[in-house]
Amino acid sequence: MTGQNAFADMLQKARMDGYAVAAFNVYNLESFQAAIGASESTGMPVIAALGERYFQNLRPRAASALFHGLQKSGSGAKNPLGQIGLHLDHATEVASCFEAIEAGFTSVMIDASHLPYSENIQRTKQVVDAAHEHGVGVEAELGGLAAGEHSHEFFEGREDLTDPSQALDFVTRTGVDALAVSVGTVHGLYRGEPHIDMSRLAAIARLVAVPLVLHGGSGTPPDLLAGAIRLGIAKVNVNTEISVAAVKALKNAVQSDRMPHLSELALVTRSAMDEVMDRYMRVFRGDGSRDDHE
Ligand code: 13P
Repeated sequence: MTGQNAFADMLQKARMDGYAVAAFNVYNLESFQAAIGASESTGMPVIAALGERYFQNLRPRAASALFHGLQKSGSGAKNPLGQIGLHLDHATEVASCFEAIEAGFTSVMIDASHLPYSENIQRTKQVVDAAHEHGVGVEAELGGLAAGEHSHEFFEGREDLTDPSQALDFVTRTGVDALAVSVGTVHGLYRGEPHIDMSRLAAIARLVAVPLVLHGGSGTPPDLLAGAIRLGIAKVNVNTEISVAAVKALKNAVQSDRMPHLSELALVTRSAMDEVMDRYMRVFRGDGSRDDHE
């Protein structure tokens, strides 16, 4: 199966072959280095995802320059196919998507999931039409995730599980390349026992042929992630846990008697990010098997 853009190709291959592409949030030099490094060290695809939330840190044009500059300076040894995508995560504004498309992003996520269904379709379709004209992939969301601890998303966070038949209607009417679904994960760290509604996910995967995206990766146990990947999840987003690990490492470093240099602190955050990303990459690799519901 060949998609019309690199994002669709990358995720369709993952869904077919039973693994997931990691989407790690990026907002500064170290997070970009860690995300690109995770791909280079494993040879697996990775998506560096700048949230609209982080435009205060980096606008798309600066993020794109950094991303492409780092890739040129990296070894690229284990990543000959250049399987690294630059993605706009959770954009509520169509204008943000246009800004990212213009800046050369591989894909954008228009998140109009908080709006009434018909407006979600209309706004998503508007982005799909513009993005596809430029060979840029599009992800959209149907349903909503609850907000867990340390959640850093825009939304208040009310769980609204994705309805399988509405998912089919949404994908057919919008032409999106990937669909983010709500099946029990939360944005941020879980307050209770992590749970994924596998039968709902299986029902969605049976009906919807495009790759499915799982938001709220942080804190989700490896066996649940592996089960979701077997059912058709082709991209998993991880943000909070990486930030929490980096901030904890930073706190430890500044509590020592010696005044560390800011450049050293940047390296401290980088290695904390590397560790968390590495752990997730091992889970996302999958075992190559897929519960066949298509
Ligand atoms: P977590 O912060 O729970 O990992 O979720 C990340 C996410 O879904 C970003 O879109």
